[in-house]
Amino acid sequence: MDCTNKQMENQFYDIGMIGLGVMGRNLALNIADHGFSVLGYDKDTKKIDALRASSGTRDMRGAQSLKEFVSFLRTPRAIMMLVPAGPPVDQVIQELLPFMERGDVIIDGGNSHFSDMEPRTKTLKERGILFLGVGISGGEHGARHGPSIMPGGPREAYERVRPIFEAVAANVKGEPCVTYVGPGSSGHYTKMVHNGIEYGVMGLISETYDLMRRGLGATDDQLHEVYAQWLRGEANSYLLEITFNIFSQADTMTNKRLIDVILDEAAQTGTGMWTSQEAMKMQVPLPSIDVAVAMRNMSMLQTERDKANLILERPIRLFQGDQKVFIEQLGDALYIGMIIVYSQAMALLSVASVKRGYHLDLEALARIWRGGCIIRSDLLEDIRTAYLADPNLPNLLVDKKLSKRVMTLEGSLRKVVSSAGELGIPAPGLMVSLAYLDAYRSAWSPANLIQAQRDYFGSHTYERSDAAGIFHTQWQSD
Ligand code: 6PG
Repeated sequence: MDCTNKQMENQFYDIGMIGLGVMGRNLALNIADHGFSVLGYDKDTKKIDALRASSGTRDMRGAQSLKEFVSFLRTPRAIMMLVPAGPPVDQVIQELLPFMERGDVIIDGGNSHFSDMEPRTKTLKERGILFLGVGISGGEHGARHGPSIMPGGPREAYERVRPIFEAVAANVKGEPCVTYVGPGSSGHYTKMVHNGIEYGVMGLISETYDLMRRGLGATDDQLHEVYAQWLRGEANSYLLEITFNIFSQADTMTNKRLIDVILDEAAQTGTGMWTSQEAMKMQVPLPSIDVAVAMRNMSMLQTERDKANLILERPIRLFQGDQKVFIEQLGDALYIGMIIVYSQAMALLSVASVKRGYHLDLEALARIWRGGCIIRSDLLEDIRTAYLADPNLPNLLVDKKLSKRVMTLEGSLRKVVSSAGELGIPAPGLMVSLAYLDAYRSAWSPANLIQAQRDYFGSHTYERSDAAGIFHTQWQSD
């Protein structure tokens, strides 16, 4: 049945999807599988054809023009965009506007920067249109079979699409991996921080790979086996699971493993960097994620690294101790590193919750991240429990259960970090995570010296630990 017949029967589609790339098409299929009718639109007619080809008996079709698309949607309309972040989102909004009516809802499901939300909300509000900013995680597979969904914006807009979101989201122990995150840009913000965690954990896993590959001389089969072993433990997570799979993947062009022919330069689309930038702005220490972004940047300096390798030559040393013990310590170090990455990111969310007026429910966020998304992990169950016990926990490291695990495992992290230093293998994520732990639990910091220096060269003044007030010292004679 085409659109014209559908209209003649006076049936209108429940939701519209603009942007029928793999993510948009998969999400449309997922929505239709749950009994909702979906109308798709894309400027690229080939993508409309692809949607049509994959629709089968589902109640979903493609519209030929934006005008037709809007006219076949049930009013008040719900239109979701899955287009690249940045100017394409504004362009689609502008193109849609002439056809939209008061009360319609537009949903941006891409990885938009949270700061883009406010001007778009304002433009649409002037026309009586509601705007939802929705973080969606889980990649192509998640979109098709159940993503984690982070919607932010007007609650009434969320309530409109809630039945669809709850039906299509991943489900863990009977709970859908979607919740109303909060007002304004909170949905995109939360997704940004999700991606910061993604960067941090990926960085840590890659360091364990390096330590085993170059430090122990481990083969891909051995790595596959170690990651399988860790998967059975506390660090069980989606990112570890894909890592385990990656090491057994054969290359179709050579008789090697695929991992060994992939270029060692990591690209990025910016969400990790945004998390770091935002954490700096909010003055929340987030070094494990900062360093993960920095190491992706370092990986891109291939030519420079090649040259420096000759000038600053120092052969990587092979680990000399008990390999089995080292691998166990490495597994523990990865887990405690993960705890620290999540702790830093959640601390950012708890500050943003207040400073940006998001009123976030951190327990609910941990809950919706347990399934569907890239950072899903067993650890999130403990994180959820931690916020259930104390919604105002300033940092997960002081939670009763997690602090005990950290205290038990920190020796392993310390051993791994010192070995990495001796071997000459860069493990900055593990190193800075340990430093963060040591700094966070330190009742004293050397910042008194920094205060003295600032006052010395710039008369910035300082406070004293033994008396109230602001002080300045004339450190040198004129
Ligand atoms: C997700 C992913 C997804 C995407 C990242 C990749 O949650 O499904 O985070 O959004 O894969 O944007 O980010 P980089 O290209 O920056 O690594």
